[in-house]
Amino acid sequence: MSLSDAPLLRALAGDRPDRTPVWFMRQAGRSLPEYRELRVGTRMLDACLTPDLAAEITLQPVRRHGVDAGIFFSDIVVPLRLAGVEVEIEPGRGPVFAEPIRTAADVERITSIDPESLDASAVAEAVRIVVSELGETPLIGFAGAPFTLAAYLVEGGPSKEHMRARALMHTDPESWHRLAGWLAQVSRVFLQAQIDAGASAVQLFDSWAGSLSRADYLEFVAPHSTAALRDVTAPIIHFGVGTGPFLADMRLGGIADAVGVDWRMPLTEAISVLGPDVTVQGNINPALLSAPWPVLEAHVRDVLAQGRGARAHIVNLGHGVPPETDPEQLTRIVELVHSI
Ligand code: CP3
Repeated sequence: MSLSDAPLLRALAGDRPDRTPVWFMRQAGRSLPEYRELRVGTRMLDACLTPDLAAEITLQPVRRHGVDAGIFFSDIVVPLRLAGVEVEIEPGRGPVFAEPIRTAADVERITSIDPESLDASAVAEAVRIVVSELGETPLIGFAGAPFTLAAYLVEGGPSKEHMRARALMHTDPESWHRLAGWLAQVSRVFLQAQIDAGASAVQLFDSWAGSLSRADYLEFVAPHSTAALRDVTAPIIHFGVGTGPFLADMRLGGIADAVGVDWRMPLTEAISVLGPDVTVQGNINPALLSAPWPVLEAHVRDVLAQGRGARAHIVNLGHGVPPETDPEQLTRIVELVHSI
C-alpha cells in the first residue's frame, strides 16, 4: 500500500475503500494521559510552536487508536500568533486576545499586516517530522474559517453567541469584509504551509458558523471561506457545528471534497441535502462516548449504516472528543469500524 491508496484519501476522492476510514476531531488532546504528561509546564501555543513536541502529540493518538489519519496538533489561532497578533490560549477557556478588533480603526490596523510575511517554519518543521513518522497514514492539516476566527477576534475571547462579530457584518459591512478577507488569507497561508511540508488533506473548521442565519452565511461568510481554500492543493474537508439550515452551502460551490456533519442531523438526511458528489464525514454523538459500550456500539453501527447512502463516508465524531473521555472507547470505535 502507498499513501495515495490510504482509505482516507480514497474516500475523499469519492471511492469506497475496503476499510471505512475513521479519525476523531481533538484526538490529540486532554483525553490522553500521555498528552497531559507531555504538556506539563508548557503553554498551549508554545507547545504548538515547538516542532518535536507538536509532532509527538500529533502521533500519540495514531499509535494508540490506530486511526486512519493524524490531525496536526496546532490551533486555529496559531497563524495569528505567527502574524504578530497578541493571543494566548487559556486552559479550560480558549483563545483570548489582548486587543479585541471592534472598530474600523482596529480592522485597519490588523489588516495592514501582510499575511504572506508570517513565518510558518516551526509549523512546517513539525509537519515534516510527523509525515516522515506516519509513513502510509495521511496527515490532515487544518485552519480556522474566517468567521470562527473573527468570532474570537471581535469578541476578544470565547463567547456563546458571537454577537459582536455577527453585528459587525451589518453595522460596518466594509470593515467586516476587510477583516474576513484578511483572515482568509492568513488561514490560506497556514494551510498551504502544512501542505507544502507534506500534509495530505486539509480540514477547514467553521465551528461556530451555526450561530449564523443562512442569509448571513451566504453574504458575509461563504465567499471568505471559499477564498481561504482558493488554490489549496490538497483534498478539502469543510466542517461546522449546527450548520443544518445551510449544510448544502457548506460544499462551497463544489470546492469541498467532504462535508463534516455534526451529531444533530441524521447522516441520511445530510446525504440527501448534500447530494451524490460529495463525501460525508461524521457524526458520532460525542455525548455517547461516556455511555456503556453496548449503547455506543449500537450508535456507531447506526452511523455506519446511514453512511452507506453517501458516495463515501469518513467516520468521525459530530464535534471534538470531550476531555473526560475514556480513550479506550475511541480505540474500540476504531476496531469496530475497521471490522465491518
Ligand atoms: O486533535 C486535534 O483535533 C488537533 C488539534 C486541534 C486543537 N485545536 C488543539 C487544542 C485542532 C484541530 C484545534 C482547532 C480549534 N481550536 C477549533 C476548531 C475545532 C473545534 O473544536 O471546534 C477551535 C474553535 C479552537 C479554539 C480553541 N483552542 C478552543 C475552543 C480550545 C479549548 C479550550 C479548553 O481548554 O477547553 C482551544 C485549546 C486547545 N486546542 C486544546 C487543544 C488540545 C486544549 C489545550 C489544553 O490542553 O489545555
